[in-house]
Amino acid sequence: MNAPQLTDRRARHQRDQSVFHELLRRHADIRREVTEVPNGIRAHTWTDAPDLVPLLHNHAQEMHRRVKEKFGLRFWDPAFAELFAQADKVQMTVNLTENGVEVLETSDDPNVVKLIRAHGATVSAFVREGGRAASQESPLPDDYQRVLG
Ligand code: HEM
Repeated sequence: MNAPQLTDRRARHQRDQSVFHELLRRHADIRREVTEVPNGIRAHTWTDAPDLVPLLHNHAQEMHRRVKEKFGLRFWDPAFAELFAQADKVQMTVNLTENGVEVLETSDDPNVVKLIRAHGATVSAFVREGGRAASQESPLPDDYQRVLG
């Protein structure tokens, strides 16, 4: 990777960080419902605070982009490291709604379906508890088979 790309990625990471820190800080203004669908989840996340809607839109789209590019984050948290390592097996569609986002995440690999469901529960914990949940390792089910050491 050459120098301009590195600078670009650093700036992008800083922007992403400032968005999810603001979402964590304002977590009490955010609502979320996750439904299991065959091979994955449908997650609806929304807010009644108009100034938070663009942040939710930005976050979901930028995270989707990062998963596609395998531009990882939270490397100290095995559930996130696994998600980026398994990114090729994750299908994700992001629909922006008037007050939030609706995301469909599925996989043809039953092991990756477990990871997607665990990640959905992790985002719900971030919404419920804010920074307290984000400072801890995210749970992975015992029967999930890790691809990283
Ligand atoms: C209250 C805070 C947060 C909210 C409301 C939020 C919301 C969301 C939503 C709506 C998605 C789309 C997928 C889904 O709905 O399950 C998502 C994905 C993602 N978020 Fe967040 N998030 C928050 C905090 C964080 C934090 C702190 C991080 C990382 C440090 C993070 C990293 C990611 C990643 C990597 C994805 C994409 C992976 C995937 O869903 O497959 N989020 N988040």
